[in-house]
Amino acid sequence: MRVPIIAGNWKMFKTVEEAIALVSELSKKVQDVEGVEIVVCPPFTALDAVNEVLNDSQIVTGAQNMFWAKEGAYTGEVSPVMIKNVGCKYVILGHSERREYFGETDETINKKIKSAFEHALIPILCVGEKLEQREAGLTEQVVRTQTEGALAGIPAGQVSQLVIAYEPVWAIGTGKTASDEDAQKVVAYIRKVIAELYEADTAQQVRILYGGSVKPENIAGLMKQPDIDGALVGGASLDAESFARIVRFKW
Ligand code: G3P
Repeated sequence: MRVPIIAGNWKMFKTVEEAIALVSELSKKVQDVEGVEIVVCPPFTALDAVNEVLNDSQIVTGAQNMFWAKEGAYTGEVSPVMIKNVGCKYVILGHSERREYFGETDETINKKIKSAFEHALIPILCVGEKLEQREAGLTEQVVRTQTEGALAGIPAGQVSQLVIAYEPVWAIGTGKTASDEDAQKVVAYIRKVIAELYEADTAQQVRILYGGSVKPENIAGLMKQPDIDGALVGGASLDAESFARIVRFKW
């Protein structure tokens, strides 16, 4: 059985003080929740402080990005060792905003995934098509290329621990969610691609999330879909009450 995950991607929001206030409130609101893994991904500057606050909590943390080298002369970058050192379990890799604004490619994402596993971090790999690609009927082709590229050379034993987030770019921050059926269809297709690249067993173990305008109001329908194992939440994760309502959805 795959344990569902609800992960919050805070993006470039929250000072250290605001981050501490948010997780302090959130951890009270979700302290009795069982059967779901709760992840928050604050900006780098707040990771240490948030991990301190969450020390005794069931909530775990992830970073939003990392570089692949362990250390070195890479001005402005943060390494997997540093992320691990402050207590993170996960790292989001290949988010569409990183592909769009920071030139990330399937090759660089692949290097980062390899490095994350080497440093005992679990990648949350983001894939998803742009609106024009969807309209041109290219959704499956896009998510296949991104998945194959990101996973090149990664062994099955690591892939089974991986988390993938299907985030259609046109649904991010727009208020437009993919329909439950559309999201299920693409997530099932990604699972099929993993089964082709590896084996059915590996594909059954990978947790695949949906992301894109997830809110307390639409989480229930998404979670009813057989292949959707949770959500990667942006805007609604910045508010403790909204995020707690998404987490507290009856599984
Ligand atoms: O990584 C989460 C994300 O891109 C979705 O953002 O604000 O549409 O929930 P949002």
